[in-house]
Amino acid sequence: MRLVILDDVNAVAEWAAKYVRRRILDFAPGPDKYFTLGLPTGSTPLGMYRKLIEFHRQGTISFKYVKTFNMDEYVGLPRDHPESYHSFMFNNFFKHIDINPQNAHILNGNAPNLIEECEHFEMAIKEAGGIELFIGGIGPDGHIAFNEPGSSLVSRTRVKTLAQETIIANARFFDNDLKKVPTMALTVGVGTVMDAREVLILITGAHKAFALYKAIEEGVNHMWTVSAFQMHPCFLCLCDEDATMELRVKTVKYFKGLSHVHNQLVADHRPGEELSLSKQLSTEG
Ligand code: GLP
Repeated sequence: MRLVILDDVNAVAEWAAKYVRRRILDFAPGPDKYFTLGLPTGSTPLGMYRKLIEFHRQGTISFKYVKTFNMDEYVGLPRDHPESYHSFMFNNFFKHIDINPQNAHILNGNAPNLIEECEHFEMAIKEAGGIELFIGGIGPDGHIAFNEPGSSLVSRTRVKTLAQETIIANARFFDNDLKKVPTMALTVGVGTVMDAREVLILITGAHKAFALYKAIEEGVNHMWTVSAFQMHPCFLCLCDEDATMELRVKTVKYFKGLSHVHNQLVADHRPGEELSLSKQLSTEG
């Protein structure tokens, strides 16, 4: 695992966006070789999306040959509801970039057969050649996508009933009215994310500090589903200072001491150098 500790949420957003750009450029996607990206919603990744839009406008990144798969979607919320994850992704990212809308996959929480919808989603990921980089955020209870505490760590895309803590956390998007928050969702499984070639998790804010501690300093546990990535060969965790509050001083010191290595992952180099550098660095998990 790599833990990259940055000053604040803005630095996390910028670093994450630079990393995504670096990975896509190194991959050199084209008509016969699409880059597949797993994407999250939530307030945490918003800054990263803004930066990627900025990079796109500057002409340093294109999403023409990128396919995306979103982590989750509410069940029963109309697609055009402002808080649906379809609306979120369209408004905050897709409408500002050059992705072909057909390549942006989001689970349909209004499908007549939700089980089939989940199976098709898994199949679509497989047909796309699997996910190269899966980006995620976490809930304060350490859930990844909507894999609530107690979810199987080998789970696949499926219907989940939301935990009360998640309903309370998400009420802020629904006029703080618990009754308006959907109680069910479709979500990729922990196993679905584990299958990605690389996992990038963004964790910011003091309210996520205990979850970060559980994610990386204690054992793999289905009550903190993000901890499963301890078993992933290529897990990169980005956090801000506030989120490190519950970590051991020696953990923070160790990873901060590696910042010169981590920063090379997002540095601008000549194309030939970039490739060999990222290959070399990817061996240090
Ligand atoms: C929801 C989403 C998760 C997301 C979490 C945290 O539960 N299903 O994918 O990580 O919210 O959201 P935020 O980034 O707003 O804290």
